[in-house]
Amino acid sequence: MSDRSRDGATAEALAHPNIALAKYWGKRTYGHNLPAVPSLSVTLEGMATRTRVTLDAGLGEDAFLLAGAAAPDAAKARVVGLLDRVRSAVGSTLRATVESANDFPTSSGLASSASAFAALATAACAAYGWSASDAERSDLARKTSVSAARSVFGGFVELRAGVEGDTFLAAEQLAPEGTWPVAIVVAATTRAAKETASTEGMLHTVRTSPYHEAWVACAPQVFAQAKAALAAHDLEAMGDAVEASAFAMHADAIAARPAVVYWNAGTMAALAEVRALRRSGVGVWATMDAGPHVKVLTLAADADRVRDAMRAVAGVVDAFVAKPGAGARTSRAEPGAP
Ligand code: PMV
Repeated sequence: MSDRSRDGATAEALAHPNIALAKYWGKRTYGHNLPAVPSLSVTLEGMATRTRVTLDAGLGEDAFLLAGAAAPDAAKARVVGLLDRVRSAVGSTLRATVESANDFPTSSGLASSASAFAALATAACAAYGWSASDAERSDLARKTSVSAARSVFGGFVELRAGVEGDTFLAAEQLAPEGTWPVAIVVAATTRAAKETASTEGMLHTVRTSPYHEAWVACAPQVFAQAKAALAAHDLEAMGDAVEASAFAMHADAIAARPAVVYWNAGTMAALAEVRALRRSGVGVWATMDAGPHVKVLTLAADADRVRDAMRAVAGVVDAFVAKPGAGARTSRAEPGAP
C-alpha cells in the first residue's frame, strides 16, 4: 500500500465494551493471539472509550496518554504494537500521540481492553489513511486483545476459534443492536481494580488447570446453543448457555494451580439473588468475566426492577442497566476531548 500518512493527521474514534454470552478463555498455543474457543458477545451502549491518534513527525517514539496521564509501560507496549501493525500496513514511519479516556468508571467491571483496542484500531487506521474494512479493523484489534475484535461490531457478535495457519481472524456481526430487546444489568461488587488480568489468568489456566481440556471441548457446544438461541430469540435457552459458559470458564480457572479465583463475597450474594429472582419467575441469568462483578442477562422490560433488586444485595456497590449498542466508529474530534 502506498504511504498516505501525513504529519499532523488526526482521527478520533469511540467504541463500547462488550460482554461475552459464550466466553472466550484460553489462547491457541500456535499462531498469534488466536482464541482456542469460539465466543458470542453483545456490544453495550452507554459506556465508551474515546481515543484520538495524532501523527507527529517530531516524535522519536509513540506517546500514550490514558485519562490525561502517561500510561504504564505494559499498556503502552500494547498500543505501540497495534500502531506498528498499522504503520507496516501503510508503509509509514511516523510516530503518534495516542490519547484515550473511558467515560465509565473502572469499578463498573467493564473497563476491559475490548473497547480500548477497538477504538484504537479504528482511530489509528483513520489517522494513518488506511481505509480498512470492519473485518480488517477487527483482526487488527484481535491481534492485541481477542475480546476487542468483537467490539468493532455492534449488537450480537461472534468470533470463531483460531485454527492452525490463521493469520487473519475477524469477528462477525450476527444481529444488529435493536433486533432483540434484552439488557445486561451490571452489578459491581467492588470498586477496586482486579487482581489478575485476563491474559495472565488464562495463560496460567492453560498451563496448569486439569480441567482446561474439558473447557476447550465443551465451549463450542455451549457457543452453538447460544447462537441458536439468538437466532430463535429464545431467552431461556440463551440464559442457560450464558450460565453454562460462565461457570465452566470459572471452573477451569478455579482448578488452576494456584487457583485463579475472580469472585468475592458480593459475587456469591449477587448470584444467590439471581437464583432467587429466577425462582420468583423473573427471567434472569448471570455471567462473570475476569473480575468479581456479576452481569445479568434479562429482558429490557425487566431491567429496571432487576437493577433495583441487585442494588439491594449486600456487597453490590452499584448496579446499572446496559442495552445492546453500536460498533466502533470514528467520531468528530471535540475540542479538549478525550
Ligand atoms: O481478550 P481479553 O484479554 O479481554 O479476554 C477476555 C476474557 C473474558 O472477558 C473473560 C471473556 C470474553 O470472551 O470476553
